[in-house]
Amino acid sequence: MKSVASAPGKIILFGEHFVVYGIKAVLCSIDKRITSTSQFVDERVIRIRSSLGESEMSIDSLDNLEKVQQRFMKPFFYIAQKAIKENSTKYGIEIVLESEIPPGVGLGSSSAACVAVTASVNGLFCKLSKDEVVKIAIQAERSIFEQNSGADSSVSTFGGLVSYDLKNGFENILSKNDLSFIISNSAQAHNTQDVVRQVRKFKEENEDLFSKLCREETSIVNNAIESLKENNLNKLGSLMLKNHDLLKQIGISTEKIDLLVQEAKKTSYGAKITGAGGGGCVISLVDNSNSKDTLDNLRKISDCFVTKIDYNGLRYS
Ligand code: MEV
Repeated sequence: MKSVASAPGKIILFGEHFVVYGIKAVLCSIDKRITSTSQFVDERVIRIRSSLGESEMSIDSLDNLEKVQQRFMKPFFYIAQKAIKENSTKYGIEIVLESEIPPGVGLGSSSAACVAVTASVNGLFCKLSKDEVVKIAIQAERSIFEQNSGADSSVSTFGGLVSYDLKNGFENILSKNDLSFIISNSAQAHNTQDVVRQVRKFKEENEDLFSKLCREETSIVNNAIESLKENNLNKLGSLMLKNHDLLKQIGISTEKIDLLVQEAKKTSYGAKITGAGGGGCVISLVDNSNSKDTLDNLRKISDCFVTKIDYNGLRYS
């Protein structure tokens, strides 16, 4: 028996990093997915196979997850360990991951993988609800990245265009909004946890400035939610540029990212870093009137593609 589940990647429209300190963020899931296929195997092992590598652990050594050599795989072993503890079985489990989401560039591939693996592994025993999946996926991600806000896993599980904050969780902004974004990959890989740590250091060394930036971010996010409801693309685009400027001030942009934003600004409604930064991707807001020109321009300096909002979130198949 195979248990298959898939979950989408995400982009953050407003509020990355500030969300870690309680500010509201706006994000949406995108039409690129990770699929996890789990099945029982006769050997007493957990085996994980993905395009990024393979890893295997005996079920009897699962209590020591520190032994996992490829760190990004630790959350998957955490999920399998929890499922095995809660449902007794004499079998092992093999998990195969197939991804359309480029890894390590701010598009939520790790969170989407945690969501898909949680759903597919537990689906071997008993299908979990989305609420149950998201709780386990966030715990699993926190096994390697304690400060993770939970925003990425939430939007990947439930899908759509949402706001998210640590206190209130997520809230749908609109049930249908056909926004289009161009995602340009700077090809500068980053480690989210390191960039979040770097921002914490910046905050600790610049408490007053950081508080001021948090207030500015709150105002940008509130205006952005209004602009989304009005479908005012011009206003949204200029708020994205303002948000990018705040992200520059906390030190997470790079020359390549700024170049991508400058170029995108010429034809799109607005552009900014999405996700952790320190490299990663830039999103540009477009519609039919300017999508082709923006794409042609950005393609000269980066790999890019157009994306739409995914309204499904986690899917069992
Ligand atoms: C990463 O996609 C988003 C950050 O805000 C971290 C987080 O929310 O956990 C940088």
